[in-house]
Amino acid sequence: MSSLDEWEDDVLKRYPEPGNMAKAKEEFRNYDNPEVDTVREFYRLNHKYQTYENVLAKKDRFLKFEQKEMPWWAAMEYLNTLIDESDPDLQLDQLQHLLQTAESIRADGHPDWFVLTGFIHDLGKVLCLFGEPQWNVVGDTFPVGCKFSDKIVYPEFFADNPDTYDERFNTKYGVYSPHCGMDNVQISWGHDEYLYQLTKDHLPEPALYMIRYHSFYSQHRERAYDHLLNDHDQQMFKWVEKFNPYDLYSKSPVTPVVSELRPYYEDLIAKYLPETVKL
Ligand SMILES: [Fe+2]
Ligand SMILES: [Fe+2]
Repeated sequence: MSSLDEWEDDVLKRYPEPGNMAKAKEEFRNYDNPEVDTVREFYRLNHKYQTYENVLAKKDRFLKFEQKEMPWWAAMEYLNTLIDESDPDLQLDQLQHLLQTAESIRADGHPDWFVLTGFIHDLGKVLCLFGEPQWNVVGDTFPVGCKFSDKIVYPEFFADNPDTYDERFNTKYGVYSPHCGMDNVQISWGHDEYLYQLTKDHLPEPALYMIRYHSFYSQHRERAYDHLLNDHDQQMFKWVEKFNPYDLYSKSPVTPVVSELRPYYEDLIAKYLPETVKL
């Protein structure tokens, strides 16, 4: 993909804002364009290479958090160096997307930890700055170690994934058991799991579910993996569903001014998170 955000635009086509279907169709009706090919190519690579082994290897590499250490705000600015140069007019920079998501949550009167979650939820995309390919950072996430659901976008591309032919992994439950709970399930590697691991000791549990599963569309939109979730996951996924529209539909015509909002977000960071983040 030329742009990191193209998959997110594609998600918006798949899940248009309720009440805004006409506009969404109008805006995105041209499915016959090069953008679609880049999204397809993205998922071809993602589905081919997101194997059980890939997840374990990436966890081993990145969950030591030995890339960089800096204050949280500096990390947000660091993320923002990920600007899409191919399309500077159309794309929001990362910080704008995060501020707009967070400000919409705040405007609806949600608790401050929910606002903070909106603000940091994509920080894990710094993985791109550590040389990771896009297919290992963004895109829909899904369980590995069991059969890939045909509710996942472009399921046909799983034909190229070696796990599809591995008897340990290609049954309904694979290495898992019925309702074993998502905490026992390996999910494809990306910015969600990485940020969850970075924040898991600091935020309330609903925030952690939002962070960890916000790209797991085949579950929070399609319910394809109810057989792996336990009752507690089912309760917590209500928060993931609550979060998702803020992520998808909060693009605001008025651009938040970073310098004006910074003190508020610095306070929120100080309330919940340690002084520095080890990436
Ligand atoms: Fe995200
Ligand atoms: Fe996002």
